[in-house]
Amino acid sequence: MSNDLSGKSALVTGASGGLGLHFARLLARHGVEVTLAARRQSALDQAGSDIVAAGGTAKYLLLNVADAASVADALDGRHFDILINNAGVSGAGPAADLAETEWDAVLDTNLKGVFLVAQAVARGMRAAGTGGAIVNIASILGHRVAGGVSAYAASKAGVIQLTKALALEWAPDRIRVNALCPGYIETEINRDFFATEAGLNLIKRIPQRRLGRPEELDGALLLLASSAGSYITGSTIEVDGGHLVSSL
Ligand SMILES: NC(=O)c1ccc[n+]([C@@H]2O[C@H](COP(=O)([O-])OP(=O)(O)OC[C@H]3O[C@@H](n4cnc5c(N)ncnc54)[C@H](OP(=O)(O)O)[C@@H]3O)[C@@H](O)[C@H]2O)c1
Repeated sequence: MSNDLSGKSALVTGASGGLGLHFARLLARHGVEVTLAARRQSALDQAGSDIVAAGGTAKYLLLNVADAASVADALDGRHFDILINNAGVSGAGPAADLAETEWDAVLDTNLKGVFLVAQAVARGMRAAGTGGAIVNIASILGHRVAGGVSAYAASKAGVIQLTKALALEWAPDRIRVNALCPGYIETEINRDFFATEAGLNLIKRIPQRRLGRPEELDGALLLLASSAGSYITGSTIEVDGGHLVSSL
């Protein structure tokens, strides 16, 4: 059993930036032929070119995970060994004021989108008879709650339960389905927030008293994506500096 991934193919959704781009670069460094997917073509083009310039193999395709027709157009007839089901949106605001459109946008992207892409990729894996590894990117907010993130927390709890349901159904096809639950990871998008008083107070509640770095997710991602994790399915791995065990 090893985490050797060379020669494998992977689809990474939400790879136009943030953690998805980080995961795509990571897999490419491990010899994976990576297909980056998201909605912003120029960002995908740039990301793919950067990976190729660094010696990797990368393509991209345009995809709106929340739209079944877009998923079918992009993925029907394709085969991947690995899916990193990462595309997601945050959508913060008090539950009492949350508009239906906002709820739908978060649930359609984070939960329905994860389902649609997993379904399309699993069809390709089943048709090829190759098995495969699906890693759904959930969140510690799928386990616990915070104020102002009701739709997001509900969507991520749904991803965790969906992961288990798909793992059960697809185990006979040798398709493993697991979830990675990051805690608060510093990226360009949230760096400014974590410098504010509210952000600094949040960091104080993390047992390790710091944010995670994207590369601190690498070990768990490679384990779940590779044959090193061949007997792991229907599981979640939390990478959160101990946030889930913070004192009540
Ligand atoms: N950063 C954290 O601390 C953290 C913690 C826990 C969990 N997570 C999860 O990790 C994942 C990535 O988060 P991030 O922080 O990297 O977010 P991000 O920087 O905002 O990136 C989100 C990515 O998702 C894509 N995306 C959004 N809606 C999409 C849609 N409808 N169809 C296709 N692609 C879509 C975006 O690309 P386009 O705009 O080009 O479509 C972008 O590439 C999310 O699932 C998030 O919930 C993040």
